[in-house]
Amino acid sequence: MDKFVIRGGNRLMGEIQVSGAKNAAVALIPAVLLCDEPCVIENVPDISDVSICLRILYELGAEVEMLKSDTYRISCKGVRSFSVPYESAKQMRASYYFLGALLGRTGRARVSMPGGCPLGDRPIDQHLKAFNALGANSCNDHGMIDLHADKLRGGQIYFDVVTVGATMNAMLAAVKTEGLTIIENAAKEPHIVDLANFLNSMGADIRGAGTDVIKVRGVSYLHGTTYSVIPDQIEAGTFMVAAAATGGDVLVKGVIPKHLEPITKKMRKIGVNIDEYDDAVRVWVEGPLVKASIKTQPHPGFPTDMQPQMATLLTLAEGTSIVTEGVWEQRFRYVDELRRMGADIAVNDKVAIITGTGKLMGAPVKACDLRAGAALIIAGLAAHGVTEIEDIHHIERGYGNIETKLRGIGGDICKVSTPPTAMKKAL
Ligand code: EPZ
Repeated sequence: MDKFVIRGGNRLMGEIQVSGAKNAAVALIPAVLLCDEPCVIENVPDISDVSICLRILYELGAEVEMLKSDTYRISCKGVRSFSVPYESAKQMRASYYFLGALLGRTGRARVSMPGGCPLGDRPIDQHLKAFNALGANSCNDHGMIDLHADKLRGGQIYFDVVTVGATMNAMLAAVKTEGLTIIENAAKEPHIVDLANFLNSMGADIRGAGTDVIKVRGVSYLHGTTYSVIPDQIEAGTFMVAAAATGGDVLVKGVIPKHLEPITKKMRKIGVNIDEYDDAVRVWVEGPLVKASIKTQPHPGFPTDMQPQMATLLTLAEGTSIVTEGVWEQRFRYVDELRRMGADIAVNDKVAIITGTGKLMGAPVKACDLRAGAALIIAGLAAHGVTEIEDIHHIERGYGNIETKLRGIGGDICKVSTPPTAMKKAL
């Protein structure tokens, strides 16, 4: 079992590069199924969720070729299957994008119920609502979601909740479907816009992505493309918080500062200095950090995927902070681990009350999900003493080579394998 061992206390200093966005890449890769010409995708992050996506495509019959460490050429001409089995789908939430992509390709999809981080109830009713609006029938066949349509047609979709996954899936299913599809109450995250831009670069006609109404006029053919995934705003935010938590001075490079605004605004309120450049942000701390109130919300609100990291920063701030989780049912499971490190946090349902203690101490802890794991890394870097983090496979789902990147700015963090295991690569 691998673990991270962190000797805390070093101020992070220097420059760190951000990779491509996980939550964009895991949608763009299945989207290639909508096209029979080869597509080249650049700036793909080196994370296990991406490896799983690529492996599923390969198992479906696609040719997948790694051109560079972050660039893949994918050809789906040979894909005949429309079925993603349990063993592959259970490993990540984003396997649900194969539903929309396969349905859009062939009018047929069979995908096992998706896995992913345990954040409470994670229904897919809105995904099915969208597929049904386009004329597909759906059923749960022994844990496999089975979609079937004699002929898909454009339709009107109104989401009851703002959902990233269902918005992306609706676009995937509609893009080659005859007629006009209107998606209302759509999610507006940067990765929604990235998927629309990717599909449009293949000849799709999608307008309004990034607003709450998206219009998709179906086209009969999509051609090959070369496209670069947007930078990961959550990885960037994680590095920004790590810099602040250690009292450091770090240039976070390769970002789109506009995508970071909800994070930047909050961090400034806490007392962190942030300078914005064209494609980088400098994060540095001079004075004390102060309390804040945070409520997570869909974009452009404060992102839920930064909630555990910011809560960790607030344990180091003066005063009592309130953090409210507005997206997921259960996203405070990491709090017990932070308490082991000396944090004073009380949780009542979806609200955490954090009394800043100004310091944390190293301890053995476990990552219970991806962002919880990122929060523990930040806590470990800021703490006095040694922190050992177990279950780091959760972290590696979404952060590529995080220990190497953090070592590059002075973090004393290493991965220890017992017994030593080779990194498993899907391809
Ligand atoms: C995406 O999950 C991300 N995952 C999550 O990232 C992120 O936390 C989340 O969006 C919110 O930003 C991927 O992109 C792979 P949702 P998704 O559909 O699409 C409810 C991370 O750490 N809902 O926007 O699954 C749902 O229960 C992860 O990188 C329904 O009720 O999230 C939740 O309360 C974890 N019915 C809310 O909507 C549905 O059919 C938002 O979920 C779908 C969702």
